[in-house]
Amino acid sequence: MPTLFDPVEMGALSLPNRILMAPLTRGRADRAAVPTAIMADYYAQRAAAGLIISEATGISREGLGWPYAPGLWTESQVEGWKPVVAAVHEAGGRIVAQLWHMGRLVPESVSGMQPVSASATRAPNRLHSYDGKQEPNEARAATLDDIARILDDYAAAARNAIAAGFDGVQVHGANGYLVDQFLRDGTNHRGDDYGGPVANRLRFMREVVEAVAGEVGMARTGIRLSPIGESQGANDSDNEALFTAAAAELERLGVPWIELREPGPRSTFRATDEAAVSPAMRRVFSGRIILNSDYVGHSAQARLDEWVADAISFGRPFIANPDLVDRIRRDAPLATADVATFYSRGPEGYTDYRTHPEQEAA
Ligand SMILES: Cc1cc2nc3c(=O)[nH]c(=O)nc-3n(C[C@H](O)[C@H](O)[C@H](O)COP(=O)(O)O)c2cc1C
Repeated sequence: MPTLFDPVEMGALSLPNRILMAPLTRGRADRAAVPTAIMADYYAQRAAAGLIISEATGISREGLGWPYAPGLWTESQVEGWKPVVAAVHEAGGRIVAQLWHMGRLVPESVSGMQPVSASATRAPNRLHSYDGKQEPNEARAATLDDIARILDDYAAAARNAIAAGFDGVQVHGANGYLVDQFLRDGTNHRGDDYGGPVANRLRFMREVVEAVAGEVGMARTGIRLSPIGESQGANDSDNEALFTAAAAELERLGVPWIELREPGPRSTFRATDEAAVSPAMRRVFSGRIILNSDYVGHSAQARLDEWVADAISFGRPFIANPDLVDRIRRDAPLATADVATFYSRGPEGYTDYRTHPEQEAA
């Protein structure tokens, strides 16, 4: 069985180890969603990861509601990403862009327009905005013209990611955002070819993957899904059937890797009692499976030993431990991330985490 420190191929990507950095929104871009200079420092500090999956990055104004999150739809955003990506490469790392349309989770006050979703629904929880938490707006159901336009936006953002120097892209299909809103029958009530039976609800995901891969190549395309549990109001009456079918569809398309946020009942990030679907997905998907949520070194290696995952992605541990790969290798203690600075602006709680364990300094 491979160890976390063995290399792995994922399509066009050759990763030197299997300790990946999960996508983490940190709110350090500017008001025009342009990446800032400290983002280059932050990502370069973490370049020892087998792969960095960028924070969720908006494909359009319509699709981006998170305050100070970055985008990839304007020339200035592409220019802003270039030094960030270059810094990761200079530090010996690899980075893909997580492409994001938040659908009904975009506050109207941020985008200036009514949010779109699979169907006319409203998110259950208050949303982050530039003016603090806000009540969600009722979304309108995307028309076929909207869908065509959104697919074009995905394609353009993927093209821009490559122009900025990214090594590939990850479609954000998880966590109750637009792709997930189309996948799950709790948020998709459509009566056309994009709704109803599972095969129809997979259509939008498939078209997004095809649009993106049409620009960057399937070998540079990955996807993130969150197959179990309710996520920001998105849920399905049969997650196992839905996500096993999704994995089979991704297999048919030739997608080289799927990252799964699959928490357990004691997770500290959106726990669920639902049984993992990843074993069933693995049976129908021959590409790489990356598992996420609540892992530390030993539990991560156990999933490789059980052959249920090819790599593990770490979120909060990478926030607080820029040298996470080295710490896992040496079985050194891990620092805990400070929740108060997750989305605060500036370097505090961002680029100032120590790169060596306390014990070494002592
Ligand atoms: C501060 C923060 C920001 C996050 N941003 C994103 C994001 O941009 N995209 C995404 O898919 N998941 C995001 N997540 C979820 C993480 O990728 C990951 O699934 C979660 O932290 C659980 O993994 P962990 O236990 O290793 O931290 C975020 C989580 C946190 C804590």
